[in-house]
Amino acid sequence: MIIETQEDVTRAVLAEMHRTPDARTCEILTALVAHLHAFVRDVKLTEKEFQAAIGLVNAIGQKTTPSHNEAMLLSGTLGVSNLVCLLNNGALGTRPTQANNLGPFYRAGAPRCENGASLLRSPTPGVPLHFKGWVRDAEGRPVAGAEVDVWHSSPVGLYENQDATQADMNLRGKFVTTDDGSFAFRSVKPAGYPVPTDGPTGVLLDAQRRHNMRPAHLHFLIYRPGFKTIASQVYDPEDPYLETDSQFGVTKALIGNYVARSDGTSELEFTFVLESGEASMPQAPITGKVAAA
Ligand SMILES: [Fe+2]
Repeated sequence: MIIETQEDVTRAVLAEMHRTPDARTCEILTALVAHLHAFVRDVKLTEKEFQAAIGLVNAIGQKTTPSHNEAMLLSGTLGVSNLVCLLNNGALGTRPTQANNLGPFYRAGAPRCENGASLLRSPTPGVPLHFKGWVRDAEGRPVAGAEVDVWHSSPVGLYENQDATQADMNLRGKFVTTDDGSFAFRSVKPAGYPVPTDGPTGVLLDAQRRHNMRPAHLHFLIYRPGFKTIASQVYDPEDPYLETDSQFGVTKALIGNYVARSDGTSELEFTFVLESGEASMPQAPITGKVAAA
């Protein structure tokens, strides 16, 4: 159609939607255009602001490498990652869930580990950690044979993909739950960490005068056919950034209970509940590790 007024632009774009053969794609695009145009009108976006926004969107892609996923980081910083997670888990957002956002640092292909094995693949000083996890179904029965990916930052707050001094796949491993639905590993207690701020995520945080810290946590990804695959994170209850996680990931259901042992080590047990549903592994947000300088 020939555009006469600013309202016509929205009508013209929406009028093209009927060509979209896939119904769900059509639904998503229609809502996207309606909301996006309404947003532009609401804030009366100026031409300068529009140019700045285009620059930021381009920078998201330019910042993304095999070892860094800026779009995933930014969506967490806007709370979208955890919103999508909470809407799709816990009986579609009606109940607490152990599901949590995958985060930008999951790598596929972590080494398969024997139950109880250590995640340390290069020297990593820190408080020794003994973790035991339980995977159960909604009725509380043990889920045996679940594949559990585990990954976490080092005690200095860096994932191995960000840190050339750590061995490839350090602090990452893949376990399988035993007949009683449990799995265990040894590692070192992770630290909270600053998310990278040298891209658009940093621009956003700066503009809002927000800090870029995440509270210390362990990551999990639990896969077993017959159950909905969940990513999860278990948080340290004593971390000072628990209430102000820059990625809005902390939920009540995911605050762990670390127990300090008299020998100076730390112990954590945690139970994950799986819902029945489709098992499907997510696409890994990163595929590699930074090269040594
Ligand atoms: Fe993390």
